[in-house]
Amino acid sequence: MPPLSTETLAPDEGGIARAAALLEGGGLVALPTETVYGLGADARNGLAVARIFEAKGRPRFNPLIVHVASIQAAQRYVEWPEQADVLAGAFWPGPLTLVLPLRADAGLSPLVTAGLDTLAIRVPAHPLARRLLEVFGGPVAAPSANPSGRISPTTAAHVLAGLSGRIDAVLDGGPCPVGVESTIVGLSPRPALLRPGGLPSEAIEAALGEALAAHEDGAAPTAPGQLASHYAPKAGMRLNAEIPREGEAFLGFGPGACDLNLSESGDLTEAAANLFGHLHQLDASGAKAIAVAPIPDRGLGRAINDRLRRAAAPRT
Ligand code: TXA
Ligand code: MG
Repeated sequence: MPPLSTETLAPDEGGIARAAALLEGGGLVALPTETVYGLGADARNGLAVARIFEAKGRPRFNPLIVHVASIQAAQRYVEWPEQADVLAGAFWPGPLTLVLPLRADAGLSPLVTAGLDTLAIRVPAHPLARRLLEVFGGPVAAPSANPSGRISPTTAAHVLAGLSGRIDAVLDGGPCPVGVESTIVGLSPRPALLRPGGLPSEAIEAALGEALAAHEDGAAPTAPGQLASHYAPKAGMRLNAEIPREGEAFLGFGPGACDLNLSESGDLTEAAANLFGHLHQLDASGAKAIAVAPIPDRGLGRAINDRLRRAAAPRT
């Protein structure tokens, strides 16, 4: 793909109008969501969707999440069981993605679902994402706006560091408040957690009144955020480290000396919001390895530990 000059768009009506026009023309626009920045394209336009894979250097078998402005808009693309109503009613707009049967008349590019008969869909809560979806008026396919396998972006600067010259524009909405990707839930044959994320699974189970089934390991990667090595910084990673070793940068959690702290007060919500930004920063410092303090495995800690394990996995 020839290099593009990547525009930085201001978070105002002019920036939104430009972003919508670029999407209409089949362009690629990185947009802020409450979780991470997404790399958006018109989900009905196969060429535009193909350009997402090209820009990210992403393996083709990864299906994408479609972003829409409302529950009514979602119902145009997927079958809508009662449990979808319960979860969307409770958590949309917000950091929850539902995997539902694709409607035969959805009209989306098959590249979006990578040929699956289900579609991952969500209504994001970020005001700029919502406004862009309203003005554009169509479904936006958007994976995280990072080169495949690298740390997810939570600022426009992260997006540009990875994708400048490969995408048309980034809409600059400042840092993403949640900081980890959406939680992904499938509903058939029964509610299952496909990826832990920005909405704690405890809240989902409380709304459903039943436990979520765990994602079955060993099967084909239906949620390829499940690929073992993912979200990786260039530096090596060592997890559950009480103290750093010689030459390691130390990413702390809770009180104590460290190079950067996910949350001095031990707050998991703050830690999630800081996770990718701190990894970007320590990686950019040139450290050969990053040691990470133990993170409690509850609530958002599950999403944080999931991302950390993938960042630490042997590189493929
Ligand atoms: O917070 C988020 O979810 C961000 C923002 C931009 O919305 N997006 C994001 O997209 O994390 P991405 O492409 O990095 O991750 C999408 C995940 C992948 O693990 C993919 O395999 C899974 O969603 N997925 C997509 N369609 C699916 C389907 N039909 N069945 C199961 N998993 C699916
Ligand atoms: Mg991603």
